[in-house]
Amino acid sequence: MTSNHSSHESIKPVIIVHGGAWSIPDSLKLRHLNGVTKAVKAGYQILVEHGSALDAVERAVVCMEEDPIFDAGVGSFLNEEGYVELDALIMDGNTLNAGAIGAVSNCRNPIILARMLLEEDNSPIMLVGQGADKFAEKMKINTDPKDLIIPREQKRWEKGNKGEDIFSPNTSGTVGAVALDEKGHLASATSTGGSPYKMVGRLGDSPIIGSGGYASEVAAVSSTGHGESFMKLNAAKLATDLIEQGYPPQDAAKAVIEKISDINGYGGIITVDRLGRIGYFFSTTRMAYAYISKEGKLVSGIDM
Ligand code: GLY
Repeated sequence: MTSNHSSHESIKPVIIVHGGAWSIPDSLKLRHLNGVTKAVKAGYQILVEHGSALDAVERAVVCMEEDPIFDAGVGSFLNEEGYVELDALIMDGNTLNAGAIGAVSNCRNPIILARMLLEEDNSPIMLVGQGADKFAEKMKINTDPKDLIIPREQKRWEKGNKGEDIFSPNTSGTVGAVALDEKGHLASATSTGGSPYKMVGRLGDSPIIGSGGYASEVAAVSSTGHGESFMKLNAAKLATDLIEQGYPPQDAAKAVIEKISDINGYGGIITVDRLGRIGYFFSTTRMAYAYISKEGKLVSGIDM
């Protein structure tokens, strides 16, 4: 043993990510599995290099924001006026500090902007709309909103404009990550483009603390799915509370998604607790997920 070994040395890091809960077709299975696997490995790399859970979840979510197969960052759905409005939330379970960004339209990686807000002294926890755009400019991570639009989503928007089916042939999903680091700290990150052809200014659950994500000293949670339902139940906080009351993370994830189904909502959730136990559950046909357990085992999948 070297002299700088801490009392936390025996804690093994854990990370789980999701890439959205919906009826992912077989034709897109591989791209989703590749996307979540790349993201979980990137986050885990930070954890094994003694980095923080906060850095790990941010890195994992950036990976998925950069992958247009997901509804986050580049390739997100456009709103009814034909531009992206992105939402993101990052939360540190050790301090309860958080950064939330809603309806930002000029930022490629809203999770980075959310992290910057978390790190700012004396700042608000949440910035939306024009304020979020201005913050992206101030932090010099703004981009031309047109650079966030890909042909697939431009076509979807044109269909919406003509009153045609915007859910065909395929949609895409919100992304998120939760992690436990070597110090025993937990963190959560979630990022989304929201729903296709949404009203300007519509916020879903993703940037709302306790709905799209939550992290405490005991558990970290990230949600995906029908945002309005997750907001009604404060789904991420509910899962955290259940884990704090003694539910294993898997049971908490299942219980929350069953409650979402009870109010005719749908979606999925990922959880991790301070013991490094993970959970995931979804009511949709599929959800892309990947995790690396405390034993260092990588698992990815899209079926329950
Ligand atoms: N769950 C993402 C959203 O509803 O915007």
